[in-house]
Amino acid sequence: MTKARNVIGLECSACDKKYDPAVEQHLCTCGRPLLARYNLRQAAATLNLAALQSRPRTLWRYAEVLPDDPPVSLGEGMTPLLHSVRLGAAIGLERLYVKDEGLNPTGSFKARGMTTAVTRAKRLDAKALAAPTAGNAGGALAAYAAAAGIPAVIVMPADTPSANVMECQAFGAQVVKLNGLISDCGKYVAERKDREGWYDVSTLKEPYRVEGKKTMGYELWEQFGGKLPDVIFYPTGGGVGLIGMCKAFDEMQEMGWIGSERPRMVAVQAEGCAPIVRAWETNQNTARFFQNAATIASGLRVPGPLGDLLILSMLRRTKGTAVAVTDDEMLHAGRELASLEGVFAAPEGAATVTAARKLAASGWIRPHETVVLFNTGTGYKYSEAWQRALQLVPAGVAT
Ligand SMILES: Cc1ncc(COP(=O)(O)O)c(C=O)c1O
Ligand SMILES: [Zn+2]
Repeated sequence: MTKARNVIGLECSACDKKYDPAVEQHLCTCGRPLLARYNLRQAAATLNLAALQSRPRTLWRYAEVLPDDPPVSLGEGMTPLLHSVRLGAAIGLERLYVKDEGLNPTGSFKARGMTTAVTRAKRLDAKALAAPTAGNAGGALAAYAAAAGIPAVIVMPADTPSANVMECQAFGAQVVKLNGLISDCGKYVAERKDREGWYDVSTLKEPYRVEGKKTMGYELWEQFGGKLPDVIFYPTGGGVGLIGMCKAFDEMQEMGWIGSERPRMVAVQAEGCAPIVRAWETNQNTARFFQNAATIASGLRVPGPLGDLLILSMLRRTKGTAVAVTDDEMLHAGRELASLEGVFAAPEGAATVTAARKLAASGWIRPHETVVLFNTGTGYKYSEAWQRALQLVPAGVAT
């Protein structure tokens, strides 16, 4: 057991109870996720825009605010931030950017969370890693586990996109397919982990995936030259991307980089699985389990997110909102993003285009505001969804 020296403590996100980061930790006794805390005054002494210029082009460049273990890295992070002029003109936004997370190892932002989680698990001497997945997280975990030399067990719904199944098998993971949703896969892992000696890497059930994902917030700040955008659209399933970025913004404020202002966070979900949107619209602090969840955006098929409390409080704190998009809207939007900008997106990423159009049309976003859409994954892993998209939309017609 080795202490990650940068991390001075783990703290419950709900009741503030403290935990020792030198040993394996999962949820708080109250059932809510733990978050890593740093000595940010010390971090701010060496972490700044000038220092970053000469650092490696991976997310490990933000070393002061990450666990300082030897990284299990495949070159993740520092994805392009594209000024999407043609799409912006179509939507009515002058400063529209797409952050293309599809360029990460294994083709999604899930690589960010897994590089930090597997790095820490390796240091804590984990014997086998296990996680339920909607698809992309499993592929990323399998890849980083392979690179770390640790066996992995990936549990996924039987109808997960075929590319996700194949990549996990190729990386040498044990793949379990269940007739059910990610919530059923989560139960499968929870029931067996103690008996099997698995280290549970489920969303928010260990503290370090959030740490990798928060680097999306640091990168935006760096890529905008030490500034943050006005609005961020994020496709939200388990919510780790959104929670991670908001955590990054809080850390930046503590380091004196920004004030109390925040980008307005927009959680984008699928109409067929929108627990956060429903809770937001009915002004609840927590989300109800979404029955009969179904959407082509497999990463958004998370009917009961464990981070609901955090996600909803972050939407409120940042004066953000939550928007649901139909599958057909996502598929049309994917065509539009591809044909106008050359970005071949996952349906989850495409959903943000529709959401931005709706909020620009309603006046919630003003035309000159700086807006970032997160394309969280590559379209190349979604051949089933893209086949449907190409049938739906006549070739050459952008909506
Ligand atoms: C492409 C893609 N986008 C978004 C998400 C949702 O991610 P989060 O759990 O951070 O909300 C997923 C999760 O599987 C995904 O694969
Ligand atoms: Zn607690």
